[in-house]
Amino acid sequence: MAFKSFFTLFLIHICLFASLSYAEDPSFYHEFEVSYITASPLGVPQQVIAINGKFPGPVINVTTNNNVIVNVRNKLDENLLFTWAGIQQRRSSWQDGVLGTNCPIPPKWNWTYNFQVKDQIGSFFYFPSLNLQRASGGFGGFIINNRAVISIPFTTPDGDITILIGDWYTRNHTALRKTLDAGKGLGIPDGVLINGKGPYQYNTTLVPDGIDYETIDVHPGKTYRLRVHNVGVSTTLNFRIQNHNLLLAESEGSYTVQQNYTSLDIHVGQSYSFLLTTDQNASSDYYIVASARFVNESHWQKVTGVGILRYSNSKGKAAGPLPPPPSDEFDKTFSMNQARSIRWNVSASGARPNPQGSFRYGSINVTDVYVLKNKPPVMINGKRRATLSGNSFVNPATPIRLADQYKLKGVYKLDFPKRPLTGAPRMETSVINGTFRGFIEIILQNNDTKMQSYHVDGYAFFVVGMDYGDWTENSRGTYNKWDGIARSTIQVYPGAWTAILISLDNVGVWNIRAENLDSWYLGQETYIKVVNPEPTNKTELPMPDNALFCGALSKLQKPEDISSEASLTIGQSRVFFTLLMIICTLIPIFH
Ligand SMILES: *[C@@H]1O[C@H](CO)[C@@H](O)[C@H](O)[C@H]1NC(C)=O
Ligand SMILES: *[C@@H]1O[C@H](CO)[C@@H](O)[C@H](O)[C@H]1NC(C)=O
Ligand SMILES: *[C@@H]1O[C@H](CO)[C@@H](O)[C@H](O)[C@H]1NC(C)=O
Ligand SMILES: *[C@@H]1O[C@H](CO)[C@@H](O)[C@H](O)[C@H]1NC(C)=O
Ligand SMILES: *[C@@H]1O[C@H](CO)[C@@H](O)[C@H](O)[C@H]1NC(C)=O
Ligand SMILES: *[C@@H]1O[C@H](CO)[C@@H](O)[C@H](O)[C@H]1NC(C)=O
Ligand SMILES: *[C@@H]1O[C@H](CO)[C@@H](O)[C@H](O)[C@H]1NC(C)=O
Ligand SMILES: *[C@@H]1O[C@H](CO)[C@@H](O)[C@H](O)[C@H]1NC(C)=O
Ligand SMILES: *[C@@H]1O[C@H](CO)[C@@H](O)[C@H](O)[C@H]1NC(C)=O
Ligand SMILES: *[C@@H]1O[C@H](CO)[C@@H](O)[C@H](O)[C@H]1NC(C)=O
Ligand SMILES: *[C@@H]1O[C@H](CO)[C@@H](O)[C@H](O)[C@H]1NC(C)=O
Ligand SMILES: *[C@@H]1O[C@H](CO)[C@@H](O)[C@H](O)[C@H]1NC(C)=O
Repeated sequence: MAFKSFFTLFLIHICLFASLSYAEDPSFYHEFEVSYITASPLGVPQQVIAINGKFPGPVINVTTNNNVIVNVRNKLDENLLFTWAGIQQRRSSWQDGVLGTNCPIPPKWNWTYNFQVKDQIGSFFYFPSLNLQRASGGFGGFIINNRAVISIPFTTPDGDITILIGDWYTRNHTALRKTLDAGKGLGIPDGVLINGKGPYQYNTTLVPDGIDYETIDVHPGKTYRLRVHNVGVSTTLNFRIQNHNLLLAESEGSYTVQQNYTSLDIHVGQSYSFLLTTDQNASSDYYIVASARFVNESHWQKVTGVGILRYSNSKGKAAGPLPPPPSDEFDKTFSMNQARSIRWNVSASGARPNPQGSFRYGSINVTDVYVLKNKPPVMINGKRRATLSGNSFVNPATPIRLADQYKLKGVYKLDFPKRPLTGAPRMETSVINGTFRGFIEIILQNNDTKMQSYHVDGYAFFVVGMDYGDWTENSRGTYNKWDGIARSTIQVYPGAWTAILISLDNVGVWNIRAENLDSWYLGQETYIKVVNPEPTNKTELPMPDNALFCGALSKLQKPEDISSEASLTIGQSRVFFTLLMIICTLIPIFH
């Protein structure tokens, strides 16, 4: 009897411990088998990047503080990394999936990402970060729900729908790469996809027969949350739904002041949540449109994505012309004013119970100022390159974070200029020296005639201002110091600037990049290195056991480390947990 009760007590202990840690931060496993499949979204068969045979990939749906484990099996014929745009990877740039932090996963290898979505909520997406691969797919939505104890600033929607929009070429990413390598531009895209599908045949001249299009089924009198992401190559898209208002509610992890829009410009890499009320009479289906913006429409008519919103009581097909885009050819401030109208709901709770606005960014003193300037591509050493402040970034063979871990010198320079270089443009692995717990102001100045958007990994930043012309110190007078939105991807209009503020509280090496794939591929990126000078393990997680080695550290790579072992560990811990759970449920029986 004594043994029995001791044994039961011991089991209860384990079970309590397991269920406690489990209940606090549960883990969600995903297998990503990444391969090419043939698809014909625009009627032309082509190889696209699929995950588990699906294009686009699955939606990852988790809750604040959950652990996400993704075993990536690379069945492509080239290196692979996934990055999780907008997921802040608190204390662990090791999981960020860009070349400055991770060695690429070679073909036929497995690698397992393991991260916690700490203190985050909102709508994000993942995509393959190397070599223009996103132009061939491999992307999918990433939802982080609020914990049940924290109320969201609107009634729980009746449905939650992810919509991935993006410009698309019938040439694959290797062909597009060759074009860029040959010093040419990518040219006009062949179309726009909505959830990997081509346009509904709204016009027989513009859309060929037999294209599979996206249909979104809804019931009348309901409210749906639409999470819309621009996962495309380089085209700003105007998103709209015929006869329906889009009530903006969230943007890349921040709840916004809720406002209705008839259409919204979504720039490359950006994510928005809209609340859609199905309040129309269903006399027909309705068009969902994502059309190219700021381009000459007579050349870009085909660069229009069209899907269908179908009420369950719909009386017929959508017909007639598409709802028109904003008619603002002669009003360059329209779109910028719309962007300025997107503001933070300072009283709503985000991932934590306290209001989003309790972090009073407007009253914090700036410690460092960087002006990052985009110019049209230039020739450097006989190659066409894109620059940021006169520097065209060269990815090191050894990731920056890994080089630091092993105290390798000479991999990169901590000399990214605070003001644009005035001399000849250069090609360097030049990185921003960030000050831990500093508060940095970055001015993105676009001196080109094309729209750009920029993304910062590891952080959400505050968008405090944007305007046409050159930024000057006086521009600070126009900053929004109260309810500028916190997000991770922001547009910079041609001939204009955008100012952002970042609180450097996340230790690591973080990518700052152009989201337009061509600019990024041609070198428009850098990293910001944030080091805690105090020796502590609290502000950065240790290097993961399964870290890959490459470049100057290739010798450290053990072939058996990767594939089978990594997945075995997962398999074993799964078996262990299952056993534990079975035993736990059996405990009452022992008694
Ligand atoms: C990409 O397209 C080129 C032709 O332009 C073709 O040779 C190549 O095999 C394609 N790559 C893949 C992975 O399908
Ligand atoms: C802001 O959030 C609060 C708290 O959830 C909510 O009551 C309010 O309606 C929101 N305001 C706007 C303008 O969206
Ligand atoms: C995400 O998971 C939650 C349960 O955790 C579920 O309520 C919700 O419907 C899911 N959302 C989607 C889009 O699947
Ligand atoms: C279809 O598009 C073509 C090309 O823009 C246009 O000339 C034609 O009027 C459109 N057809 C209809 C039915 O709208
Ligand atoms: C947004 O538009 C809907 C109708 O589509 C309306 O019911 C709602 O009151 C509007 N909300 C705001 C905040 O303007
Ligand atoms: C349904 O709504 C459409 C668009 O608002 C309108 O043109 C039409 O007259 C309405 N039909 C009915 C039966 O109310
Ligand atoms: C758009 O292209 C057409 C045809 O090439 C040209 O005639 C027109 O001037 C262009 N419009 C603008 C605003 O550049
Ligand atoms: C910011 O700087 C001003 C002037 O340099 C100083 O008076 C103020 O105390 C500083 N505020 C904070 C929060 O450090
Ligand atoms: C980087 O900044 C830190 C202060 O944050 C400074 O101590 C260090 O010298 C700087 N390193 C370089 C190479 O400028
Ligand atoms: C680029 O900068 C130069 C010099 O400041 C300015 O004259 C020109 O108008 C700018 N062009 C754009 C598109 O911003
Ligand atoms: C950090 O963790 C490592 C490995 O667990 C340990 O060797 C080191 O002493 C720790 N450093 C500090 C400052 O706690
Ligand atoms: C990769 O992982 C899967 C499942 O986790 C496993 O079946 C497979 O053997 C692994 N691949 C390699 C090359 O070991």
